[in-house]
Amino acid sequence: MGGVEGGVGLTALLVAAARAIESHRPDSLVRDVYAEHFVRAAPASAGWPVGMEQVPDGDANPLWGRFARYFGLRTRVFDDFLLRSAQAGARQVVLLGAGLDSRAFRLDWPAGCVMFEIDREGVLAFKHEVLGGLSATARTARVPVPTDLRADWVGALADAGFDATVPSVWLAEGLLFYLPNAAERYLIDTVDRLAAAGSALAYEAKLEKDLLAYRDSPTYTATREQIGIDLLTLFSLEPRPDSAGDLAAKGWSTSVHTPFEFTRRYGRGPLPEPNDALAGNRWVFADKPRP
Ligand SMILES: C[S@@+](CC[C@H](N)C(=O)[O-])C[C@H]1O[C@@H](n2cnc3c(N)ncnc32)[C@H](O)[C@@H]1O
Repeated sequence: MGGVEGGVGLTALLVAAARAIESHRPDSLVRDVYAEHFVRAAPASAGWPVGMEQVPDGDANPLWGRFARYFGLRTRVFDDFLLRSAQAGARQVVLLGAGLDSRAFRLDWPAGCVMFEIDREGVLAFKHEVLGGLSATARTARVPVPTDLRADWVGALADAGFDATVPSVWLAEGLLFYLPNAAERYLIDTVDRLAAAGSALAYEAKLEKDLLAYRDSPTYTATREQIGIDLLTLFSLEPRPDSAGDLAAKGWSTSVHTPFEFTRRYGRGPLPEPNDALAGNRWVFADKPRP
């Protein structure tokens, strides 16, 4: 289980716990029946809450309340984006930094779709073991692609059967801020190269110039103190590239949103607060136009 319990793999368990909590809410935006099994299966997270009744201060808890609600909303918004893109014709779905994402198992995909899940080998091995134990059945073709996104990952995706002539939809959810600047540039260039006309990409970015300015925010403090994850030591502190600008320069049409816009649209989710670790978070949607 090494890969999921060390460093950045742990963050996949954090998001899984958030999705488990969200799934148990009566007004949930997402229902992920697999999430709590991942959390329980890894010794590092086995004691974490998977339902709000297990959180002593409930919704007021900065980690399992507001931050978990953020992940719930994010999951739903990107669920809707991926399904919309698949229904519009993208039959290849590429999850970059897939973590413990269970979309292949949860969502209703059009016939003929294939989903490529890229993550580090240890994370995908843990996922395989837990899903195997549950006898879970994917609702679309699914190909795990164990590789490190800091290296040249194009060959691994091609070997997995990705076809650059067929429209695709790509998602980098909770990923880019873990990658060095050069790896993000490579990722954006590569998606542009491999995406046929009619493809789409969504990703999450952080715009802050100095992430450490929010070190003492309730979100980062609670994550450190309650579960021992210091996100700021896992994030790359290098200056970020302007990926939305780079995509626009390559001819993609892009739109950049705060998560708070979606809180209003979906009726639930985080709102801005003082000393807010989410202040710079943006969700970016990009389309590569057909000629
Ligand atoms: C916060 S989790 C998000 C997982 C998933 N996208 C979700 O939202 O549930 C970040 C994921 O990115 C993966 N990741 C981080 N750096 C990576 C790298 N260099 N290569 C491959 N995967 C990486 C981690 O292993 C982890 O599963």
